[in-house]
Amino acid sequence: MTSAATSIKNGNLVAFPTETVYGLGADATNDDAIARIYKVKGRPTGHPLIVHFSSIGNLDKWARDIPEYAVNLARAFWPGPMTLILPRTDLAKDFITGSQDNVGIRIPSHTVALALLKEFEEQGGLGVAAPSANRFGAVSPTTASAVEIELADFLSESDQILDGGPCLVGVESTIINCTQKKPSILRPGAITKEMIEDALGVTIDLNSSNSESIQIKAAGLLESHYAPNAKVFITGSPRSGDGFIALASIATPEGVIRLANPENNDEYARTLYNALRQGDALGINNIYAHLAEDIGVGVAVNDRLRKAAE
Ligand code: TXA
Ligand code: MG
Repeated sequence: MTSAATSIKNGNLVAFPTETVYGLGADATNDDAIARIYKVKGRPTGHPLIVHFSSIGNLDKWARDIPEYAVNLARAFWPGPMTLILPRTDLAKDFITGSQDNVGIRIPSHTVALALLKEFEEQGGLGVAAPSANRFGAVSPTTASAVEIELADFLSESDQILDGGPCLVGVESTIINCTQKKPSILRPGAITKEMIEDALGVTIDLNSSNSESIQIKAAGLLESHYAPNAKVFITGSPRSGDGFIALASIATPEGVIRLANPENNDEYARTLYNALRQGDALGINNIYAHLAEDIGVGVAVNDRLRKAAE
C-alpha cells in the first residue's frame, strides 16, 4: 500500500489522529484535493481550513507579519493543541482561507500526525489542510472507528484512515486570533486562557462576544455545531430512557442511561464526543449533560456542550 504521506502528495485524502480529534487531511496546496475535503464533509465552501505541518521553521512559508506574541505562543505550545490565525502569504490560497487574508496554522503533537507530516515534508509537501474528520455540523471523531462511521460512505478507495488510538485531549484545538495587537481566543481548547496569559504575561480576551466583533469566520463559532442526532439539553431534568452525561461526583438520576462518568474536566473532554456518539448508537432521543467545572479544559467542554444544545 502507498504510504499515507505519498498518498496525500498524490492528491488523496488521509484521515489521521491528532491529540485533539481526528483530522481529514489533504495537500494544502492542491485545489482539487481540498475541493474533495469539502465534498466528503458536506461542508459549505468558504469555511477556512487549518494548515498543519511538523516544524516551526515552516511558519514563514504560510504566514507573514507574525507578531512577537505569536512567536512566543508557538514556542510555548507547539507541537500541541493550539491553532494560530495569522496574516497569510501567497502560499495560502483562497481555497484554504475562505478568501480571508489570514490563515489558521497548527503543529500537532500526536506521534502519528507528526510522523505523517514529516514524511510528507520530506517529499516536498508544505502543509496538510485538515478539518475535523466528521460531516459538517456533526460531532468530531476521537477514534478511527468514529471516522469510519462518519465518512466511510463518502471516501474513495484511494483514501485512507490511519488508526492512532483514542485522542488524548478529545476536543478541538484552541484557536487564537493573532492578527491584532493583542491575541484573543476564538475557540477554547486545552491550551487555556490562563496558560496563554502565563506564557505571555498579559491578560487576553475570551471568545464569542469578542470574536464576533472582528471580521473572522470560523465555522466552529456557528451557534449550532458539534451536535449529535439526539437533542442535547444542558438545563432541565432527564426522564426515564434519556441519556445522561456528568462528572462522576453527580449521581445518575433514576431510570436514565449514563453515557459518561468522567472523574475530572480532562476526562470529560476526552470522553464527551464518544458519549454523544454512543447516545446516537443506542438510538437515544434526548441527552442531558451537566456542564463541566468552568476551569481549564472545562471551558472548552462547556463551549461545545452549549453549541451541541443549540
Ligand atoms: O483540533 C483541531 O483544530 C482539529 C485537528 C484536526 O487539527 N481541526 C479542526 O478543524 O478542528 P475544523 O476545520 O473542524 O475547525 C477549524 C475551525 C473552523 O471553525 C474554521 O472556520 C476555523 O477553525 N478557521 C480555520 N482557518 C481559519 C482562519 N483563517 N480564520 C478564522 N478561522 C479559521
Ligand atoms: Mg470541525
